[in-house]
Amino acid sequence: MSLFRTLTGYYKTRVGEAGRHFDWVETTVSHLFRHRHPALDGRSYGGAFHAALAREGWLQDGDRFLEIGAGTGGFARGFLAEARARRGASAPLDYAIADLTPSLIAGQRQTLAEHRADPWTALHWVRCDAQRMPLATGAFHGLALSNEVIADFDAVRADPRRLARGAARDPRVAAAHERIARYGLELDDARQFINLGAIELLEELARVLAPGARAAITEYGQDGPSREAVLYDGWFTRHTEYAIDFRHLKRVAAALGLTIEERNLHDFLGFRADVPVLNYTEVRRLKTVHRELEIRAWTQDELASAHPAIAARYQLRFRAPGDPGFPDDAGGRAHGGFRGLFRVLLLRRL
Ligand SMILES: C[S@@+](CC[C@H](N)C(=O)[O-])C[C@H]1O[C@@H](n2cnc3c(N)ncnc32)[C@H](O)[C@@H]1O
Repeated sequence: MSLFRTLTGYYKTRVGEAGRHFDWVETTVSHLFRHRHPALDGRSYGGAFHAALAREGWLQDGDRFLEIGAGTGGFARGFLAEARARRGASAPLDYAIADLTPSLIAGQRQTLAEHRADPWTALHWVRCDAQRMPLATGAFHGLALSNEVIADFDAVRADPRRLARGAARDPRVAAAHERIARYGLELDDARQFINLGAIELLEELARVLAPGARAAITEYGQDGPSREAVLYDGWFTRHTEYAIDFRHLKRVAAALGLTIEERNLHDFLGFRADVPVLNYTEVRRLKTVHRELEIRAWTQDELASAHPAIAARYQLRFRAPGDPGFPDDAGGRAHGGFRGLFRVLLLRRL
């Protein structure tokens, strides 16, 4: 097993058509709730995210936005729709996307066609590796966003003996070794990974955010060691991610002079407890038989109206997005599901 796994390599070479990738390989919660949804009081995930930031005082008039890792563009579409509704029809909106994957950038341009046609919305794309952002120091005024991305960034196995040996040969191992010492990161066991790319993103944010600028970063993980998670699409595609060690990220952010607040993502977004949905495991299973079925968090009423034959034929179980069996009733349940695992870190440059 190599010491250093590079996911940026995966994103440069392995991601094909965006819809298929997010339906089968790397289904984010924001992808499941990309349409306006009753569990989010009629907002999409991106719209609910904007509403939550506004509610908690994390937005300022005229903020520019920088989204890191936009996937299909579904998050941006909902976020911009909510921003437009709140700011009014002819207020300027400026939204930049930093992403590594050309095929996903092409898909984002299509998803965002309606916003691109709005003369008051400026949309920009920067193709880059966000672990090293091509932005000048102190240049960004506004809010940076990164939703369900940083578990994809580079991670390095933190076995101390391998780290010491590998540091001489591999610059990424050397970089991880150096961060452990610089920030005093705790190591629990030899199976643990260091979220090197996520740490580098915080360093880059601390560098590019102007005083008063902010960032909101979501991901899954725990206050404990990072582990590898391997996802399969059922055919030949294998995608590896690394759960976030939030202890490390909080320590690094504090050392970089960023203020940091942490929220449970499910509660932050305001998911309703009284709107049960079909979980991802079940939708995926159904789609293998019913190819016409869209992968999303169907409510019972939505499914019965769009696919009455499917709704009538199967005994389907619907559960609230806060249930430990959502979105995945196998591995996820053991860790508390979406509600137990996902957090949002809210950062501010003083
Ligand atoms: C899991 S998707 C997240 C998509 C989206 N934010 C969502 O909520 O559905 C990861 C995204 O990050 C991008 N990405 C992965 N590694 C990256 C890197 N090192 N720099 C910039 N973008 C990266 C991928 O191209 C993809 O768009």
